[in-house]
Amino acid sequence: MFERLPADVTLYEVGPRDGLQNESRLIPTDDKVRFIDALSGTGLRAIEITSFVNPKWIPQLADAAEVARRVARQPGVVYSALVPNRQGLDSAMAARMKEIAVFMSASETHNKKNVNKTIAATLAAFEETVPPALAAGLRVRAYVSTVYGCPYEGAVDPARAVELCRALRALGCYQVSLGDTIGVGTPRQVRDVLARVLAEIPAPEVAVHFHDTRGTALANVLASLPFGIATYDASAGGLGGCPYAPGAAGNLATDDLIYMLDGLGIETGVSLAAVSEASAFIGSKIDHRLPSRYAQAEEARRRS
Ligand code: HMG
Ligand code: MG
Repeated sequence: MFERLPADVTLYEVGPRDGLQNESRLIPTDDKVRFIDALSGTGLRAIEITSFVNPKWIPQLADAAEVARRVARQPGVVYSALVPNRQGLDSAMAARMKEIAVFMSASETHNKKNVNKTIAATLAAFEETVPPALAAGLRVRAYVSTVYGCPYEGAVDPARAVELCRALRALGCYQVSLGDTIGVGTPRQVRDVLARVLAEIPAPEVAVHFHDTRGTALANVLASLPFGIATYDASAGGLGGCPYAPGAAGNLATDDLIYMLDGLGIETGVSLAAVSEASAFIGSKIDHRLPSRYAQAEEARRRS
């Protein structure tokens, strides 16, 4: 079972964005910056720090420009932000972002609720963001959400993800991250989706983004590794969710993922102890227990 695993993988940290966008308590900018600066010292090579979206919809990240300005950017770390449209791109560029991520869903209803457009209109509007971003020298990543299921429509045809990956790649996105937005995917589905996507797109251009709503995220990573997927999105402490996907829980916890990858002998370059410290810090600022199992075990160990 473990013969075909990659020797090393990249962890794409999304806690400051996907995590904090879903917290009911507004986190002060100072704490966000401290959290991101702590993550920058863990060995992570990619951190999604915020979103340049309408603050009316995501008030948690209304301080995007200030966060981007104040983060102490470290060499060797890529800092990224979500951008939904041209207005977001302009704000991201003004905040000196070098990488952005565009996003859309594989199901119409979630796409409409999330970005107020049809899938076709969203793709068309990307013409106003992706080519100008590339022309300005930014790297552009893309997300396809609800690949494994939609909170409004239920099952989603995997062919949708393949079509969108193709379109996003043609636009010039360097990587497409396949989102299990509501954490319904199971390893068999992951195998089916990845087999289809990778028949058309090279593995380095595909990332996986699992939410752990039903406890299948680590199993889904294990199903992805033999396909040579080399980028895994995760969130420190397991923070996260999508406000437009009812019941969506946190992302796969970075701490839990590193624990498993360390055990498998797969190099991440990231210190579990340092991520654990960053998680504990942000855990002390939110109004609930961190979902990460590793964080909970550490908390219990510290208490005893
Ligand atoms: P809209 O209302 O259709 O936009 O929103 P509009 O162009 O008609 O503009 C309306 C108002 O929004 C205007 O302000 C604009 O200035 C403002 P007003 O004149 O009414 O005062 N506006 C903006 N403000 C700041 N920054 C902007 C921006 N654009 C417009 N960039 C829009 C469309 C997409 C902007 C809106 O629906 C929105 O911001 N949605 C938020 C979506 C979001 O952030 N969702 C969560 C992230 S996705 C996710 O979590 C999934 C993922 O993790 C993967 C997975 O798990 O599957 C990525
Ligand atoms: Mg997400």
